[in-house]
Amino acid sequence: MHQIKAVFNGNFDYIENIKVSPFSRAYTFSDSVYEVIPFYNKKSISFESHIERLQKSVDALSIKVDLNKVTDEINQLLSSSAFDNGYIYYQVTRGQDMVRSHIYSDKINTETFGYITSCSFETKKLNVMICDDIRWGRCNIKSTSLLANVLNMNNAKLHNCDEIIMHKDGILTEAGASNLFFIKNETVCTPSLSNNILPGITRSILINALSNKGIKVLEGDFNYLELKTASSAWLTSSTKGIAPIENIVNFDHSLSIDDPCYISCKEIFDSKFFG
Ligand code: PDD
Repeated sequence: MHQIKAVFNGNFDYIENIKVSPFSRAYTFSDSVYEVIPFYNKKSISFESHIERLQKSVDALSIKVDLNKVTDEINQLLSSSAFDNGYIYYQVTRGQDMVRSHIYSDKINTETFGYITSCSFETKKLNVMICDDIRWGRCNIKSTSLLANVLNMNNAKLHNCDEIIMHKDGILTEAGASNLFFIKNETVCTPSLSNNILPGITRSILINALSNKGIKVLEGDFNYLELKTASSAWLTSSTKGIAPIENIVNFDHSLSIDDPCYISCKEIFDSKFFG
């Protein structure tokens, strides 16, 4: 059996030896936040940005955690792993409440959990489905509460899709587990940051890399119908890097994965992300 290296409440062990209480609020209320930190050639990518976002997530939930300890644990997982390329999943949970109550006790101890796994970062062409964004109003928090994403993505899977693109009242937000970019009139566009989308680290790596090459990204409110006239589109995330969208199934709209503008964006991104 492939043994996954993990750390739970500061103790390193293989994942099958870790025991989590069913009273953990991660289990009963999804009262937890997480990060997915990619590494390539054994080097983490934008580590500080992930820790800064984790800080924002725990602050938003008023969960206390020592992020210096978290950083040490992630570094230990990385240095003790045989994988060259992959990611570390790290979750911070409010803790165990022995009485199931929406209002949490202020006496409980924060729980932490991380593990390391491999990832090939192979570029995959995506089929996506446009759908209504039925999520809550604080999607900028990287919460483990992802039921709306799970429902929408599994519905899309029934239509041979790998991902979804969501819109709220017609305005594009993001994908189920990634951020959205598209090209219109030779301009790179992406939905602007708000409470309705996760501020993706890969999104900001791409925007900065393009800006360093003099390519401006237009961040704004875009109607989802604008995708019907996009020449190309792609999604970004820590595990996908950049993944081009080949087809939007419910628009019957094919996008070019050979668009020169997309290809140069991908080259600029890859040299930064994997460089
Ligand atoms: N997902 N939007 C959503 C809803 C996400 O879940 C993610 C990442 C992103 C991209 O963020 P980043 O570039 O920081 O990875 C955007 C991770 C990878 C996951 O849940 O597995």
